Amino acid sequence: MGVEVRTEGITKSFGRQNIWQDVTLTLPPGEISLMVGPSGTGKSVFLKSLIGLLKPEQGHIYIDGTDITTCSNKDLYDIRKLFGVLFQDGALFGSMDLFDNTAFPLREHTKKSESDIRKIVMEKLDLVGLGGAENKLPGEISGGMRKRAGLARALVLDPQIILVDEPDSGLDPVRTTYISQLFLDINAQIDATFLIVSHNINLARTVPDNIGMLFRRHLVMFGPREVLLTSEEPVVKQFLNGRMIGPIGMSEEKDEAQMAQEQALADAGHNVGGVEEVEGIVPQMQATPGMPYREAITRRQNRVREILHTLPPAAQAAIIKDMEDVDATQQIPVTAGAGGNYDTSYEHSAGYEYDQNYARYDQPQHYDNSSAHEGAAADRFEEPPTAPYEPQQRYEDPDTGQHRRN
Ligand SMILES: Nc1ncnc2c1ncn2[C@@H]1O[C@H](COP(=O)(O)OP(=O)(O)O)[C@@H](O)[C@H]1O
Ligand SMILES: [Mg+2]
Repeated sequence: MGVEVRTEGITKSFGRQNIWQDVTLTLPPGEISLMVGPSGTGKSVFLKSLIGLLKPEQGHIYIDGTDITTCSNKDLYDIRKLFGVLFQDGALFGSMDLFDNTAFPLREHTKKSESDIRKIVMEKLDLVGLGGAENKLPGEISGGMRKRAGLARALVLDPQIILVDEPDSGLDPVRTTYISQLFLDINAQIDATFLIVSHNINLARTVPDNIGMLFRRHLVMFGPREVLLTSEEPVVKQFLNGRMIGPIGMSEEKDEAQMAQEQALADAGHNVGGVEEVEGIVPQMQATPGMPYREAITRRQNRVREILHTLPPAAQAAIIKDMEDVDATQQIPVTAGAGGNYDTSYEHSAGYEYDQNYARYDQPQHYDNSSAHEGAAADRFEEPPTAPYEPQQRYEDPDTGQHRRN
């Protein structure tokens, strides 16, 4: 299983420019988490801080229990080997073919023989659907293929934590969905802890187990996907629906006059954009049938069930429904209460101050959980598993032209 990543009150500035402050969150081991936020809010800086490329001025970052803000350089070097990182552009060497690009970390960091390297590289290229393309140069392939190659390279050292920066940048929606599927499939196969940074709404709605949002130098929230996808927090709601109406403006922050003007336009019937009809929860994508069971599902269900009573009512209802839906289609060997124990159920930054008057819930708040739903969901966990899926269809991969089993 992937390892836990925890930040505790981290603050990062460059000179006098504060990027974010007091960011506290836990990436649950083996689950897929996603960080959203407007451009320039410090998402990439956050990723770089997690691998120790940038050092926050305050706070602590625990990777599998080791504080990388205070540990020795040697320990940091070892900790870094736990990470696989996919940078925005794939960051491939233009003069090396995909084989050599993918082999690079193995040649740098291990003493493996060329025949072992060959085996690993071909396996990882296969994993990302690039088997057969190993002799191509980065310049000869599509953006989607370059991302896949970057991902193959991120996987060769068998990482326990995978960081991905804007995987959708430069990709069309279909390619973005293919790479999203790949993340879920890889998570199912290697059970690594994922943190993906993206402002793609589709990806945010369908891929992660957990979502966080950075805005105005604070972590607005971090928690199970259902919490953010049902949130009434204006900035979260605006972002996840891609609307103009809300606190985020063209130049990140808006004044009240502009907000009032836009609201008046909307009230007068002007189409202010966004996709209101997809508000709320859409089903999470699953690993491709035929892949191993994604263990994160069970762990997350157990974890979320323990904190259910601390979550807002809309999130509770969505989680219960989600558990029922997933349970109907997956074999879930659930034992109640066996999940990890996190002392913060979900993060809702007290430091994030929004000057408008709106109802907010402060953490930790306990909601009345008197409904019978929880029991009903728990009962359904005992239902007999459904028959294993038989792979039967084939599809053509749009990047490689290969036929892959579906
Ligand atoms: N190494 C650096 N030195 C100085 N400023 C930086 C550095 N890296 C990032 N920044 C600044 O930090 C802010 C956040 O950047 P970034 O993390 O790239 O945002 P995002 O990924 O959310 O779009 C930007 O204003 C950027 O200019
Ligand atoms: Mg960035």
